[in-house]
Amino acid sequence: MPNGEVPAIEVEHLTVSYGPVPALLDVSLKIPRGQLVGIIGPNGSGKSTLMKSILGFVRPDVGHVRIFGQLAERAKGQVAYVPQRGSVDWDFPITVREVALMGRFGHVRWWRDYTRRDYQMADEALEMVRMDGFKNRQIGQLSGGQQQRVFMARAMAQGAEILLLDEPFAGVDAATERAILDVLRQTKAAGRTLLVVHHDLATAQEYFDSLVLLKQRLHAYGTPEMVLNPDLLSQVYEGELRAFARLTQNASSSALNPAEQQP
Ligand SMILES: Nc1ncnc2c1ncn2[C@@H]1O[C@H](COP(=O)(O)OP(=O)(O)O)[C@@H](O)[C@H]1O
Ligand SMILES: [Mg+2]
Repeated sequence: MPNGEVPAIEVEHLTVSYGPVPALLDVSLKIPRGQLVGIIGPNGSGKSTLMKSILGFVRPDVGHVRIFGQLAERAKGQVAYVPQRGSVDWDFPITVREVALMGRFGHVRWWRDYTRRDYQMADEALEMVRMDGFKNRQIGQLSGGQQQRVFMARAMAQGAEILLLDEPFAGVDAATERAILDVLRQTKAAGRTLLVVHHDLATAQEYFDSLVLLKQRLHAYGTPEMVLNPDLLSQVYEGELRAFARLTQNASSSALNPAEQQP
């Protein structure tokens, strides 16, 4: 991080619990502006809890999160969130354009309707994810990957500096995965900061500038080369053999770069 620059996200000694066992324990990290960062870790390791803490949705037991130097609970508009697809009710009768417009909700005064600027931001966001041809379609009639892109458009339309995405690649086909990755990269190129929960260790190196390895505690944070260390991963992923086997397969063919191994 350049000297003197305020981090986009600063997590300091964060402990969060829902019950007797903390979901996060003494996690500290600083994410500079303009980075595309992946969060990895086994199921139940606190990845979503870290996102909710950055959004200011959960109250820490100890520690805090700052967004550009301001406490997270006071910086809510600056962080946009794309939830896990499974957590959304897709039967809700709403069109693609209406979903994108929801991103503008925080900008609308209660006595006014959406302005021309709100529609423009929503439409630009839909163009960016290449869903502008589906504006009047009901969200429930789209494929999983299209729904994911519409939710990304909603986050873009919000105009937030920081985007959090919880498993955006889960359950999408290869072409959609590429399309989503393009949008993430364009967003980064526009100077925004992205934090993405990712479950596929085989693509983690190619996709992200740096990785956060979480399992209640912060086990590693740094370049993908550093974090995707087989010894470190075998400690953290004990019991989740499938994810780990894929990685060691790649590692033993010495490339660790899945893009070069596709037929
Ligand atoms: N709302 C909640 N109430 C109680 N326990 C929760 C809640 N949300 C998460 N947990 C627990 O906290 C731990 C971390 O969960 P989570 O952050 O969702 O992990 P991940 O996203 O890595 O799968 C898990 O043990 C989970 O069961
Ligand atoms: Mg989760």
